[in-house]
Amino acid sequence: MQQRYFIRTFGCQMNEYDSQRMADALRVGCGMEAAGAPEEADVIVLNTCSVRAKAAEKLFDELGRLRKHKQARPEVLIGVAGCVASQEGAAIIGRAPYVDLVFGPQALHRVGTLIRRRRQTGVPQIDLQFPEIEKFDSLPAATAEGPRAFVAAMEGCSKYCSFCVVPYTRGPEFSRPLADVLEEVAGLALQGVREVTLLGQNVNAYAGAEPGGGIADLARLAECVANVEGIERIRYTTSHPVNFTQRLIDAHAANPRLMPQVHLPVQSGDDRILARMKRGYTAVEYKAIVRRLRRAQPGISLTSDFIVGFPGESERQFANTLRLVEEVGFDGGFSFIYSARPGTPAAALADDLSTGEKKQRLHQLQELLDSQFAAGNRRRVGENLPVLVEGSAKSGGLLTGRAPDNRVVNFSGAARIGEMVQVAIEAAGRFSLRGGVVA
Ligand code: SAM
Ligand code: F3S
Repeated sequence: MQQRYFIRTFGCQMNEYDSQRMADALRVGCGMEAAGAPEEADVIVLNTCSVRAKAAEKLFDELGRLRKHKQARPEVLIGVAGCVASQEGAAIIGRAPYVDLVFGPQALHRVGTLIRRRRQTGVPQIDLQFPEIEKFDSLPAATAEGPRAFVAAMEGCSKYCSFCVVPYTRGPEFSRPLADVLEEVAGLALQGVREVTLLGQNVNAYAGAEPGGGIADLARLAECVANVEGIERIRYTTSHPVNFTQRLIDAHAANPRLMPQVHLPVQSGDDRILARMKRGYTAVEYKAIVRRLRRAQPGISLTSDFIVGFPGESERQFANTLRLVEEVGFDGGFSFIYSARPGTPAAALADDLSTGEKKQRLHQLQELLDSQFAAGNRRRVGENLPVLVEGSAKSGGLLTGRAPDNRVVNFSGAARIGEMVQVAIEAAGRFSLRGGVVA
């Protein structure tokens, strides 16, 4: 009988992308098929995230649940991939001895080899190397699921923000060659993909080798992707303020396929906190980028990431973050309570704010972000927006898709998946828009 795999993904979009590529490797390289649930699988992989402490705890909760399954069917293999695997390594097997495979984000293309070795030797397999580009060279061609797809342009991070584990778990920044990214995009376009999101921890630090020599930046990459037959929309995430060049800003004015939406993590609106986070910019510098972007592409939607309760954050410093959110007019965003990560410089700083106070700040900030997002939704009522059709909405017999600025639009009318339709926006919800196709 054909062996089956089940992958559960935690964390960021890069992890979602990695899981899809791991699934490609298991299907094409090992002849396996996807299982609908972990209980039906012969190989179960948890693709983990270690950005915040809770994420690691979630892994061990999940492993606890899988333990019984493994006792009942000892031939089932359990794997831990991703950033917790990178960070904890063999300690995972120390704490959960029934785990068979531990491998980091840069070793996922070796999943088939690890499975075979585990079966042949009976010994758990651990692979935490960073072989850089080998990962992409060894993976089979990406498979599309619907009209939108992620494509990794670069990997890793060399910024070393004082609070963050990513540079340690995913290794230093490196970019895929331009031609490799374009080949993947073209392959996806042939399978019906119309919108591509270029991925990287700091995707605007992209510096990929060009076929004729020279280095392509993200503006150049976006220009080349725009010329791929079938691709109508381009997004990219996550970008870093320090790498936000004028060339990229100009690309927003010149490249009509570059969607009017940027996720640009600011983390805090207070300069002293930003310095202690080692972010490399001030609030004024951040606002200057926003101003130039708005000039280049009026109506561009900006979202961001925020950390509240960074060690020593005072009430006034937190108020500076709230003020920045209002000044920039963010269209929503993600906020997180600071979580001390072992091995990062910030973990050594005194953290004396109470949990109650941190939760209160998180609530206040998230409310503000959500209310600004909802206000943006209300402003769209009465507009006609081009929507890329993705499929059926969860309820109401409607179709669903996304507007240029990435808002979800649920709508009535006839349309095919992958088609671009014009939708008249009739109502705004807290998290989505509603409308009908116009002829
Ligand atoms: N590369 C991106 C950037 O430029 O910031 C972000 C990568 S990180 C995986 C995603 C988000 O997680 C960050 O923007 C930050 O807000 C949050 N984050 C990272 N480390 C954190 C920590 N120790 N505690 C709380 N939130 C954290
Ligand atoms: Fe983390 Fe800062 Fe890099 S948040 S992923 S170290 S840019």
